[in-house]
Amino acid sequence: MRRGSIVQLVVLGVVFGAGAALVALLIPWLPDPASKQAGRIDFVFWFVTVICIAIFALVAAVIVYAVFKFRAAPDDDTDGPPIHGHTGLEIVWTAVPAALVTAISIVSAVVLSQNEHVSRAATGVDPLKPVVIDVTAQQFAWSFKYPGFDNLISSTLKLPVDKTVELHITSLDVTHSFWVPEFSQKQDAVPGSVNKLVITPDKLGTYPVVCTELCGLGHALMRSQAEVMTASKFAAWTKSSQGPSGGGGGGGGASGAAVFTNNGCDGCHTFKPAKATGTVGPDLDKLAAEAQRAGQPLEQFIRESIVNPNAYVEPGFQPGVMPETFKSLPKAQLDALVSYLAQGAGG
Ligand code: CUA
Repeated sequence: MRRGSIVQLVVLGVVFGAGAALVALLIPWLPDPASKQAGRIDFVFWFVTVICIAIFALVAAVIVYAVFKFRAAPDDDTDGPPIHGHTGLEIVWTAVPAALVTAISIVSAVVLSQNEHVSRAATGVDPLKPVVIDVTAQQFAWSFKYPGFDNLISSTLKLPVDKTVELHITSLDVTHSFWVPEFSQKQDAVPGSVNKLVITPDKLGTYPVVCTELCGLGHALMRSQAEVMTASKFAAWTKSSQGPSGGGGGGGGASGAAVFTNNGCDGCHTFKPAKATGTVGPDLDKLAAEAQRAGQPLEQFIRESIVNPNAYVEPGFQPGVMPETFKSLPKAQLDALVSYLAQGAGG
């Protein structure tokens, strides 16, 4: 091959490689990683992308070079020269891809095993140590329970920054899938089994929790939020939300309000004392009238509507929309929530 041809090939390769690199770098294909695991997955993506860009540059350069260099004249109807095998080339184009694929497998396997690893200490009960969180999916809501914190329940995923959490994910009905794009990982929520997912968030912020498995009519609306907070803010949240358990079940208005917002009631209901303006479910400022229509005393009606929401459904609303997960609220929290709602509704 003449030196001029090699220079032309190299120039073409650099141009195509630079073009592909710009496409990879300038377009924000992936969100900024917000966990250690996502950072590792990001590394694998870039590792593979760099290899792909190199192969693309090589192939595109050779194709374009050949198209111009070996173009037949318009009046040339002869057959091309016969070309036989080239053992050296064949060895190279077998060995190089084999090496690259092996490298990708090794890097992926290492990252996968690191991402699934959680140290023994990380699952301890010590609140300073990382946390186990039970994640329950249900058409069409998420619920997060903290067994290490008095079975605290929340409708948003509260996470302390820089601590490893182990999610135990399950479903009450059909298959859902847990996904926070900024954490990069996905895990199915399957009824009857518990799937684990290890996350070490390393960036403060609020990120969407998305259901990423078609699970019914409300699939697209099955969203929650993951809030990564400082350790001290997380500790303050667990203390304020546990409330009644410390004082032997007093359950004042304040902790009822905390239960109300922690469980996402404000997402669907209007309730003035909580400054909630949701319109998916019945207006809780009118609980007294609704209890009357249901023919029940106010507190009893509120309690039943929380633990067994389909027993009575307010006219104009659909059964099966309100999640049934709240029957697993610890009694102290349920009591606090009931009396909070009853007080706010003028009971
Ligand atoms: Cu749950 Cu899609």
